[in-house]
Amino acid sequence: MSTNIESHLIEKRVFKPAKEFSKKAQISNFADYKKLHAESVKSPEKFWAKEAATLKWTKKWTRVLDWKAPFAKWFVGGHLNASENCLDRHLEGPRRNKAAIIWEGEPGERRTLTYHQLHREVCVFANILKRNGVKSGDRVLIYMPLIPEAVIAMLGCARIGAVHSVVFGGFSSESIKDRILDSGATVVVTADGGYRRGQIVSLKQNVDHALQGVEQVRRVIVFRRTHLDIHIQEGRDVWWHREAEYVDAKCPPHPVDSEHPLFILYTSGSTGKPKGILHTTGGYLTGTASTTKYVFDLRENDVYWCTADVGWITGHSYLVYGPLANGATCVLYEGAPNWPEPDRFWKIIAEFGVTILYTAPTAIRAFMKWGDEWPKKHDLSSLRLLGTVGEPINPEAWMWYHKHIGEGRCPIVDTWWQTETGAIMISPLPGATPLKPGTATLPFFGIDAAIVDDKGKEVGPNEGGKLVIRKPWPAMLRSIYGDKPRYRKQYWSEVKGCYFTGDGARRDKDGYFWIVGRIDDVLNVAGHRLGTAEVESAIVSHHDVAEAAVVGRPDELKGQAVVAFVTLRSGYKASNELAEAIRRHVAHAIGPIAKPDDVRFAESLPKTRSGKIMRRLLKQIASGSAITGDTTTLEDFSVLTKLRASDE
Ligand code: PRX
Repeated sequence: MSTNIESHLIEKRVFKPAKEFSKKAQISNFADYKKLHAESVKSPEKFWAKEAATLKWTKKWTRVLDWKAPFAKWFVGGHLNASENCLDRHLEGPRRNKAAIIWEGEPGERRTLTYHQLHREVCVFANILKRNGVKSGDRVLIYMPLIPEAVIAMLGCARIGAVHSVVFGGFSSESIKDRILDSGATVVVTADGGYRRGQIVSLKQNVDHALQGVEQVRRVIVFRRTHLDIHIQEGRDVWWHREAEYVDAKCPPHPVDSEHPLFILYTSGSTGKPKGILHTTGGYLTGTASTTKYVFDLRENDVYWCTADVGWITGHSYLVYGPLANGATCVLYEGAPNWPEPDRFWKIIAEFGVTILYTAPTAIRAFMKWGDEWPKKHDLSSLRLLGTVGEPINPEAWMWYHKHIGEGRCPIVDTWWQTETGAIMISPLPGATPLKPGTATLPFFGIDAAIVDDKGKEVGPNEGGKLVIRKPWPAMLRSIYGDKPRYRKQYWSEVKGCYFTGDGARRDKDGYFWIVGRIDDVLNVAGHRLGTAEVESAIVSHHDVAEAAVVGRPDELKGQAVVAFVTLRSGYKASNELAEAIRRHVAHAIGPIAKPDDVRFAESLPKTRSGKIMRRLLKQIASGSAITGDTTTLEDFSVLTKLRASDE
């Protein structure tokens, strides 16, 4: 694997935190950050124990960390419950009647749930789970639209020690099925449908398809959201609202061991099969609660909006567990940002008085494209802090976000982290860190991040290398579900003694981290990780296809676009209809986000003598740049000439 990642962007603009912001901030100057960070990295256990102590434990831990690399146990022997920490804890004081969730559906209806109400709903749902035979440790698959019940289902699982695995509502039946089989889930929670761009997404129908031939799922709990006519399979499917009539609202939290699994979330890796990233309770909650408090500089009267779906890690950590553990008021919006018009977000911000907005660069680029007039129509003066996550933000998009949304007043926290890290790892602290557009700046407390060369040696300023983490942290993944060897190989074998992130990066002379992108075969499309191998195997499963190679091409809006090079089985002919059919086939197999933007037919693919597809060359062809670098290992050079010719 090569780490010769070039980076040509040198950004000179610096934005220091405004005095008024810093005055009230958790960490109010850069010197304090540096001092606290240095201390926290010297003794991370001390820092994290202090943070963990802000949570409610029913039994205190006896040891902060048990580290037998690469396996970590945090807060050993401690007992707690995640839903108790997110809910019950807030019921005794003034937060009892504070809004926990302010929700808006895409068609426009609204619901507000106070902490008291959310607690009650979660208890009811936890009892529904129990009534349906769900026990601590059982896996429950959640496939829901972005409605309060998605959060209620997650916290209901946590309340009884069941392990949730949320599948993004945009994923297909095949994806649901793979995840059910891998996780061993026996219960599925879904809805009759959800709204997206004015259409109903038929979630229950997707579940029905996924469950064909799958015996292990004994119960499907269906929430009525759209009144769409759906099939109910006797003996397997039950309505949420009917079940609720049989249970009461009393359900004491079930304390679990700190290392009890909280959830499994699937993400793409460089091989075909998605990985079930396993997170446990005590460390994950400590990491998400602590980062939410410092990075978003949370205050009691904030109205906090993270626009991610619960199907992604950002939704887990910064829409559910982190903010609710801090007693925040969270906005939840079900639908598309441009429905019915491209100002939906700005309307929501103005009407709910949102103070913190956390979104993705791909969304920001879409807003830029739709035009400045849309945010201008609305009063955005309630905003005090902005955030981004999911991919590098290009300085131009950063500046637009700063000027048109933050009105020059709001700091921007560009947060780097991953499904695997569980919580934010590299990010500015808004009252302390001078910002430069395009960099996630510096590591969070207790995080020892570095950039190393192929031999594991730290590189100098502005030299590119691999981004690694040198010490364990509480919210880190514990394993790939059911596959410890793969966990070890994937994350802990590339650089000795370090967690390897898969990202390339450099540090500038001030030590700021600039993330260049993935260095494995993983694409980042609109902020979502897609394994090239996964898309390839979906393409090859099309009857007419012999072989496929998928690469990313830079795309203004999505960060990367998916380009598929396809060779057909003999006797089949390339056509626009077939390209379209292949695109549809991928959307069906994985979900619309994985749909190739371009399908290019080729007689053969460039390969090394050992038969490995030379993606580097395909990438250059896909992006229309000149073929550079070594081509001596190429088996048949004429393949390249033909591919180039087909491009013209
Ligand atoms: O390549 C990095 C990119 O997204 C990857 C993690 O993807 P995922 O597990 O889906 O989680 C996304 C949400 C946390 C990283 O390896 N990435 C994420 N945030 C940033 C980023 N790249 C640059 N800057 C960021 N702020």
